[in-house]
Order: sequence, then C-alpha cells, then structure tokens
Amino acid sequence: MRELNPFSYAFHEDPYPTYRWLRDEHPVYRNERLGFWALSRYHDVVEASRDWAVYSSAEGTTLERLDPRLGDYLPMMIFMDPPRQTRLRSLVSKVFTPRRVAALEPFVRERARHHLDRLAAAAGGDFVRECSALLPMDVIFTLLGVPAGDRDRMRGLMDASLHRDPDTPAIPPAAVDAMAQQGRYWFELVAARRRRPEDDLVSQLIAAELPGDDGTFERLTDAEVAGFLNLLGAAGNETVTKLLANAIVLFARHPREYAKILADPARIPGAVEEVLRYTSPSQYQGRTLMRDVTLHGTTMPAGDRVLLLTASANRDERAYDDPDRFDVERAQLVPLGFGYGVHSCLGAALARLESRVALEEFTQRFPRYAIDEARLERVHMSNVHGFSGVPFRAVSG
Ligand code: HEM
Repeated sequence: MRELNPFSYAFHEDPYPTYRWLRDEHPVYRNERLGFWALSRYHDVVEASRDWAVYSSAEGTTLERLDPRLGDYLPMMIFMDPPRQTRLRSLVSKVFTPRRVAALEPFVRERARHHLDRLAAAAGGDFVRECSALLPMDVIFTLLGVPAGDRDRMRGLMDASLHRDPDTPAIPPAAVDAMAQQGRYWFELVAARRRRPEDDLVSQLIAAELPGDDGTFERLTDAEVAGFLNLLGAAGNETVTKLLANAIVLFARHPREYAKILADPARIPGAVEEVLRYTSPSQYQGRTLMRDVTLHGTTMPAGDRVLLLTASANRDERAYDDPDRFDVERAQLVPLGFGYGVHSCLGAALARLESRVALEEFTQRFPRYAIDEARLERVHMSNVHGFSGVPFRAVSG
C-alpha cells in the first residue's frame, strides 16, 4: 500500500510524487503504522508553522520522538516552545543578523576560493567531500571556536548521528554513540573556555546574562551552553552542505538556468532561493499537537505527532505556478525551506551568504561542468535531504 515513509531510501531518491499524492488526495494524511499525521499543502503548513502554541516542538522536530532525557542533558531551543525558546534565541540572534553576517563575507570568500581553487586545479573532484561539506564547517566552527584539529571528527559525528537505517524510525546504535560523543566534546569545550576564555561564541555564551521573569539576570548552565553548540554546530554544517550540492546537481540538469546565472551573477541570490524551494535540504518539521485540530474534515487528536511537510508545500501547485519547473527567476513566496514562525532559521542570513559566495566562485571556475549521475551518493536521514557524494568534472570548450 502506498504510504509516506520518511525512512524509505526509495522515497529519499524522489519524494516529490509522494508529496503530490498527499496534497491531492490526503491533505491531512495519517500513517497508522508509524503513528503520525502529515500536512502537505502550502497554506496548511504556513498556518501550522505559525501556531507554536498548538504545534509544539518540545518532543522534537523529526518523526523519532526525542528521548526526554536529551532535553535535560543538552537543552536546545529548537526543541522548546516560547517563552524559554524566545529567551534563549535572543541571546544568539544578534550574532546572526544580516548586518553582522555581512561582515563575514571576506572570510567566507577566502574559504570558498581555497576549496574551489583546489577543485579547479584538478579540473573536478567530489563537490561534497572537497567543498560543500568543508565551507560551512570552516565558517560555523570558526564562529563557535572549535579548534581546527577537532573539526573533521565533529562533522563526521554529526553526519553519523543523523544517519537512519532503511524503513525504521529506530535510531541506529552508531547514531546514538555519535550523539553521546558530540555531547561529551561540547561539555569539555565549555569547561576549557570557563578556565580560559577566548574570543569566540563559546566564551560569549558562558559570559552572557539572560533576563529572568523577575527582573534578575541568570547565566547559562554548562548544559545550556553545550546545547547551543550542539545545535549551532549541526544546523550550521548539515544544511548548507546539502543546499550547495543540490544546487550543483540541479544546475547540471538544467543548463539553461545555469546559463542565466553565468550571464548575470546578480541572479545568484534568487537562484539560491529557488534551489531551497525546489529541493529543500530540510524536508519537514515535526511537531506534537497540544489540542485537537480539525482540518479538511479530519480531526487530529491532542498528543499526536504531525509532520509539517515544508518540502511539499514548496511544490504546491495551489501556491506556485508550474511548481515542478526549476526557474531561477521565479517570484518566491514565504521561503518555507528555512521554516516559518518562531523557530524560523536563525542562520538564514549566514546560509544565504555562504551559498551566494560559493556559487559566485563556482561559476567563475566551472562555466561548463558535468556531474557523474551514476555515482551520486545520497544521505539517508530523517528530514535532511541531499547528497554525500557528487563527483563532477570541468568540461572544456
Ligand atoms: C541552507 C541552509 C539551512 C536550511 C535549509 C535551514 C533550515 C532550517 C529550518 C527549516 C529551521 C526550522 C526548524 C523548525 O521549525 O523546527 C531552522 C532552524 C534553525 N536553524 Fe537553520 N537552516 C540552514 C542553515 C543554518 C545555519 C547556517 C545555521 C547556523 C547558525 C542555522 C541555525 C538554525 C537554528 C539555531 C535553528 C533553530 C531556531 C529556533 O529554534 O529558534 N541554520 N533551520
């Protein structure tokens, strides 16, 4: 029987026919076997994303329910509702404003050039392993203050902690172990910066004062600082890596669209938005219902899990004309690829900057290139969509 199964490897290859089926035939979809509901239409996803009081993040944002012990061990605002989420977010939001992020452009460009020059010298290589996995890592780990010698290992652990086996929501033992190792690392880093502060985000978070309800100020606990590092590290690494590789694959498949950004680099920011819409690195946001909700004549009871399928909403023909056409000049609606509402992506400005700069540099070095479709490798994660390997080569002429 046809179903939406976020753990199916075949589904990861091409989720879009399933999304269309859901939007057309089951706008309030129920999967009894895996125990969840799903909303797939643009309007429904926007409304639900806005309503944090009914659609709670406190039990996690992927289909797998969060182990409640994780919330105590590594508290992360993405798994909280306001007012606590709002208070924590206000602490870091100023680091990621478009103005503060714009100041990072020379550094981002220098890193992008470094990786792409090496690929250009070899006339190609693996775009993920040699560029799109490395650039976001350089940027977010430099901001956080992760020593250079620890970065590859931490990124590997992040990938491992998100990997899922085929067809099961059970978290593989290797993923659990990778999460535990990351947690230990963040606590050790916090302890090291408490002893000797440096000019980095870890030290700033340790020193930050958080206004309490009664007008007094509190400091973050070690667990809260470690939780921030875990969240920012993972969010900053995983998604930009996927967006950039999705872009390179899409442009190889749509040479006319590539020609447009080659002809006019001012189209690159719009192209980034279109890549995000067309193949969203984050496919859905999971929520728990805080009360019964009736939509399209179906009642979803309080306590049940609901997936807000942003990747489907982005292809909804009720919102976009000809949504399956990849068009870098398309007028965008609310960019649901970065989520929407109180949790909307804190790193959106940074992600846009990294993506724009990487594409500007890529187009200059590879005006013509080909990807090796047969050797593309996909990640298999619960809600993160994209490639772990994209072999490509320059084409002369
Ligand atoms: C293309 C790249 C990116 C995509 C597609 C993306 C996507 C998302 C989405 C969909 C959400 C909403 C989650 C929810 O509602 O449950 C989110 C939240 C978040 N993102 Fe991103 N993200 C990207 C890059 C980044 C970067 C570079 C950072 C680094 C700072 C970052 C940090 C965060 C944080 C901290 C949250 C949680 C915000 C909160 O709970 O208030 N993201 N992101």
